Amino acid sequence: MTLTALAVLLAYLLGSLPVGALVARTRGIDIQKVGSGNPGATNVLRALGWGPGLLVAAFDIFKGALAVYLAHALGLSALTAALCGVAAVIGHNYSVFLRFRGGKGVATSFGTLAVIVPVVGLGAFVIAIFTMWLTRYVSAGSMVGAASAIVLAWILPFPLWLRGIVTFLALLLIWQHRQNVSRLHAGTESRLGQRVASPP
Ligand code: G3P
Repeated sequence: MTLTALAVLLAYLLGSLPVGALVARTRGIDIQKVGSGNPGATNVLRALGWGPGLLVAAFDIFKGALAVYLAHALGLSALTAALCGVAAVIGHNYSVFLRFRGGKGVATSFGTLAVIVPVVGLGAFVIAIFTMWLTRYVSAGSMVGAASAIVLAWILPFPLWLRGIVTFLALLLIWQHRQNVSRLHAGTESRLGQRVASPP
């Protein structure tokens, strides 16, 4: 196995670590059976409160950033390092530890973008937080942040491969939110800070 393939595989396994599911399990909760069923920070916050939610967000961001840093540390190219970030996001969304189910990749994509293209990552983060504050919907903020990442990547002077990676991550994130879009449309999406403790 080449070093590149090994790094991508390790990044996938790192992203697959189901931090949200593990944190919830310490409180006796199956996070995939509560709220939105998403094992991400938003649903952990919804089920367990701000402390565990922020802890999961931090770890999920770290997974993306660490995957990229590890590839850099192995002396791999910037493109390979970025692909390791993508592999971590895919691991988070389709975790081998959760029977290839998982989260929506918001925090892990942010961790990846914050390292491979900080201006885009931070710009999208600010826009996402502002949208969340305005609408009180984390999903809406996440999708608007993703869309803004695409715009930033294409209006700022970045190489084509980097624009492609940002676009792929953002479109994957929006695709993962298709159930949220249905709920937003139906007016049944939970607002930020709304607590739930019942099966989806
Ligand atoms: O963390 C993903 C967020 O944008 C939506 O999460 O649980 O409301 O589907 P959730």
